[in-house]
Amino acid sequence: MTNILAIETTCDETAVAIVTDGWLVKSNAVSSQVQLHQQYGGVVPEIASRAHIEWLNRLIDDAVQQSQCPLTNLNAIAVAHCPGLVGCLIVGVAAAKTMAFAMRTPLIGINHLHAHLYGGFLSSDPTSPPRLPDFPALGLVVSGGHTSLFHLNSFIDIRRIGATVDDAIGEAFDKTAALLGLGYPGGAAIEKLARQGDAHAINFPVSLLDAESLDFSYSGLKTAVRYHLRGRRGSERSIDDLTPQELADAAAAFQRAAVAPIRIKLCRAMQRYGFRSILVGGGVSANHALRQTVQQTADEFGVPVSMPALAFCTDNAAMLAGLAFHRLAAGLTDSLNLPAIATV
Ligand code: KG4
Ligand code: ZN
Repeated sequence: MTNILAIETTCDETAVAIVTDGWLVKSNAVSSQVQLHQQYGGVVPEIASRAHIEWLNRLIDDAVQQSQCPLTNLNAIAVAHCPGLVGCLIVGVAAAKTMAFAMRTPLIGINHLHAHLYGGFLSSDPTSPPRLPDFPALGLVVSGGHTSLFHLNSFIDIRRIGATVDDAIGEAFDKTAALLGLGYPGGAAIEKLARQGDAHAINFPVSLLDAESLDFSYSGLKTAVRYHLRGRRGSERSIDDLTPQELADAAAAFQRAAVAPIRIKLCRAMQRYGFRSILVGGGVSANHALRQTVQQTADEFGVPVSMPALAFCTDNAAMLAGLAFHRLAAGLTDSLNLPAIATV
C-alpha cells in the first residue's frame, strides 16, 4: 500500500490530502480563503500567502487525523510547485520539503494543471477503484486561471497543445458575475441564474482565433457583456435599470458563449490527434452546461470522458496525491532544490 500526503497552496485554497495507491482518498482537508478576498473582488496575493502560513499546519494535522494514517506510514510528500502565485507556492513547497527532509521520504513536485486532469480518478469508496483512461488522452483544464488543452501519452508524459491567449474561462465567469452584481467568485452563481434565462436572447461573440487554432480567447466576451449590461462609456447605466429576466438572459447567453469554443476546440483536437479518451478538470468543470458539452463531444467521437466528482473540480490536494502516485511508481522524485514556479 502506498500512502502519499499532498499539499496545495497555489492560489486561495489551502489544502492537504492523503491518498492511497493513487485513487483512494483517505482524507481531503480544504480551507477556502474566499471570505478573506471577497471584499476586494479577487485574490490578493499577499493576503493569500499569509493565510496559507497560518492555516497549513492545522490542515496537515487534520488530514493525518482524518486518514488515520500515521506520518510514519507515508511513502512520499507531494506538493503543487507550479503554476500559481509565487508567494503562495513558496509556502507549500517549503512545508513539503521540511516534511520530506524530516521524515526521510521522497519529495514529488506536481504541476497543478496536470493534477486537475486527475480529478476524475479519485474515490472515497474503497470498493470502487476508478478505471484509468486509454491513452493518448485529450485533457481540458477549465479554471479561474487557465483554459488549456493537453496531450497525454500517460499521466507522466503530458504536453500542452492549447491555452488562453488572454483571460481564462473562470475569470470570464467571475468578471461577468461581478457585472451582474453576483459577488466573487461568481461561476456557480452565474450557472444558477442562467437556469432562469434564455441562452439565445443575446448573441455574444464567440472567439475562435484562426481556423486551426487550439487556443482560447475570453477577453472579447467579457467586454461584450460589459457593454451589453452597462452601456458604452459616456452613456453608462446601472444594472438596476435591467429587469430580473434581462439579467438572467445575460447570464444564460454568456454561459452559452463561454462554453461554445470549448466544444469547437475539443472537436479540432480530437480530429487532429485521434485521442482515445477525454479528461476534464478545474473549477469550471463543475458547470453543468460545460459538462454536457464535453459529454456530447465525447459521445460524438465514441470515446469515454472522465470528469471529477463536484468535490474534486475546484482546488484540492487529493488530485495532487493521486497523480504523484504515478510519478513515484516511475521513479520521478525531486530533490530538496525543487523550485516554486509561477508560470509554465
Ligand atoms: O480550479 P479552481 O478552483 O481554481 C483555479 O485553479 O483557478 O477554479 C476556480 C474557478 C472560479 O473562476 C469559479 O468561478 C469557477 O471555477 N467555478 C465555476 C463553477 N464553480 C466554480 N464556473 C462556472 N460554473 C460553476 N458551477
Ligand atoms: Zn486549480
